[in-house]
Amino acid sequence: MPVRESAGGDERAFAGAASPVLKLLVVSVTFLFIGTVQGVLQTFPAIAAWLRGAGAAGHMIDPLAHAHINLVGGVTMGMMGLFYFVLPRLVARPLYSARLADVSFWLSFCGVSLFSGSLIVLGIVEGRMVHAGMSYPQALAAVGPIHHLLIVAGGVLMGFGYWSFIANVYLSVFARRRKHATAVSASPLLKVNTP
Ligand code: HEM
Ligand code: HEM
Repeated sequence: MPVRESAGGDERAFAGAASPVLKLLVVSVTFLFIGTVQGVLQTFPAIAAWLRGAGAAGHMIDPLAHAHINLVGGVTMGMMGLFYFVLPRLVARPLYSARLADVSFWLSFCGVSLFSGSLIVLGIVEGRMVHAGMSYPQALAAVGPIHHLLIVAGGVLMGFGYWSFIANVYLSVFARRRKHATAVSASPLLKVNTP
């Protein structure tokens, strides 16, 4: 892939496929694409009427899944990528842990996918039951504990994704520079500002 030279010449350090910055930016715009397509779809009168008629089940799709796809998958994952790009430059040393950044990426990605994906699938399944004449509590009972299991699992993964990101930012800003930075030098990100 061609790499544009920056003033400092270090954009090269982010060109690898393993860079958390690149992964986060690509995933962010992908979620924004999915979220905005969903946004357009839910303005169609027939879809909007179906969602309204499905009550609490429809609410899981619009606005809950829509909001988290756009805000967690799109906005905050993009923000994480920008933080990882800017932080090493601001503190003039590598990110505290590229491995932690990778763990955080996968937790966030799997979390928001599971959380929003479950909300959409459960919303459709339970919404169909409601439209067929069931009450929402009856639809919930028919689906069983998997409803809460999927949503809580997605939420917990998202939570740990955020908290590991937050820990990495704090550690990058406040932790003393480690002697053996090579131990976590798997990511090209760490080559930035390494003396
Ligand atoms: C093409 C782009 C988009 C379209 C067509 C769209 C459409 C919609 C629609 C139809 C609703 C439901 C409104 C209602 O039921 O009253 C909604 C809600 C919402 N959207 Fe979007 N949306 C788009 C992009 C976004 C983006 C990029 C974000 C966030 C970065 C976002 C965040 C939200 C949130 C948070 C809600 C819930 C608002 C509430 O609580 O009432 N949307 N959107
Ligand atoms: C661990 C991460 C998160 C979890 C587990 C989570 C979970 C939830 C849940 C369960 C609700 C529904 C509340 C209810 O209807 O009673 C909700 C609503 C909402 N969340 Fe999150 N959330 C998380 C992170 C975020 C973040 C980071 C944002 C924004 C950047 C966000 C934006 C929203 C919005 C806008 C709503 C309201 C949607 C609406 O009803 O219009 N969430 N969230």
